[in-house]
Amino acid sequence: MIKLENLTKVYQGGQKEAVHELNLEIDKGEICVLVGPSGCGKTTTLKMINRLIEPTSGKIFIDGVNAVQQDKNKLRRKIGYVIQQIGLFPHMTVKENIATVPQLLNWDPKKVDMRVEELLNLIGLDVSENIDKYPHELSGGQKQRVGVARAMAADPPIMLMDEPFGAVDPITRSDLQNELLRLQKSIKKTICFVTHDIDEAIKMGDKIAIMYEGELIQYDSPKKLLFNPKNEFVEDFIGSDRGLKVLNLMKIEEIMDKNFKSVEITDDCDQVLKKIEQSTRSSILVTDQENKLIGYVNFKRLKEHKKNKWCDFIKEIPVIEENASLKDGLNKMIENDIILLPVVDRSCRLQAIVTMDRLKSYISNKYIK
Ligand SMILES: Nc1ncnc2c1ncn2[C@@H]1O[C@H](COP(=O)(O)OP(=O)(O)OP(=O)(O)O)[C@@H](O)[C@H]1O
Ligand SMILES: [Mg+2]
Repeated sequence: MIKLENLTKVYQGGQKEAVHELNLEIDKGEICVLVGPSGCGKTTTLKMINRLIEPTSGKIFIDGVNAVQQDKNKLRRKIGYVIQQIGLFPHMTVKENIATVPQLLNWDPKKVDMRVEELLNLIGLDVSENIDKYPHELSGGQKQRVGVARAMAADPPIMLMDEPFGAVDPITRSDLQNELLRLQKSIKKTICFVTHDIDEAIKMGDKIAIMYEGELIQYDSPKKLLFNPKNEFVEDFIGSDRGLKVLNLMKIEEIMDKNFKSVEITDDCDQVLKKIEQSTRSSILVTDQENKLIGYVNFKRLKEHKKNKWCDFIKEIPVIEENASLKDGLNKMIENDIILLPVVDRSCRLQAIVTMDRLKSYISNKYIK
């Protein structure tokens, strides 16, 4: 979708190349994150893609067409741009800000109104409450949301986002990241996303381009970057907690075990005891007849009190969903002092289990080579 070929920029009067012979391919529907220290050339690269800055040399292909030879306005219609530091027009309302590009494209006013409302709903801002506000009447997070909505207004297939969530507190930032990831699942834009925060890059990127002093140092998936940093710079940039970051990136579904035994609430005590004996564990998970998790029973306790109704010995157990991270899983185990977590779906139906042993061996095999 986007292909940069030997892209180079030397600013007028600049002694060094701000960007040096950059080669990069971004696939359709993917998020590519440009990350690197301040001044490494991220914004310059982004602005060359929509030609807010003209490259000194090199080529930019968008869908196979060299953008350097294309009409700028035509090009920009295909590209939404979220400016660093938000960049909302201060004297324009939320509606006017979002409607900028559709109005430039001479959309019918009714269609513009509908699109603005649709976008406000999409980004989670109440329409009547916010549509006529000016940027200074919005919180940081709300401004960032409007910035994203403005870039999306004419539904461009490509979005360039320059530190779109840079200026907010960590909680709002995490919310905004999650919202964009959720949105991306349905809108499937080709996104070039700039940040200087490696954690944000790992969370958001299908691919990550690490830049330093105008050069591309490594371009890989987050996993590859974490498992195989190309050199010391990348290693340092990722940070000393590389192992924990791996945990953050991996999902429970990657290590969960679907081969496990459970019992149903309607089973009788002998059946339950037999199933526990067949398994290697000291306890067993209990579900109802629809496979919804109820809790677990401990073998020793059950054996001691065999005569009583076994259901009385069911205890509650914390659960996890398959798309949670390994870090969430580990955290839950430590917090609750347990070595096994049931994996359930949204309706609390039991899918699998994840154990501390599996987590440990996964990390040691995959990560510590
Ligand atoms: N208009 C300009 N004129 C001259 N030099 C510039 C101009 N804009 C940027 N530069 C220089 O080009 C280099 C790359 O700048 P750029 O803005 O692309 O960095 P960045 O990676 O986006 O940094 P940050 O994380 O701080 O936003 C820097 O050394 C910067 O000083
Ligand atoms: Mg920048």
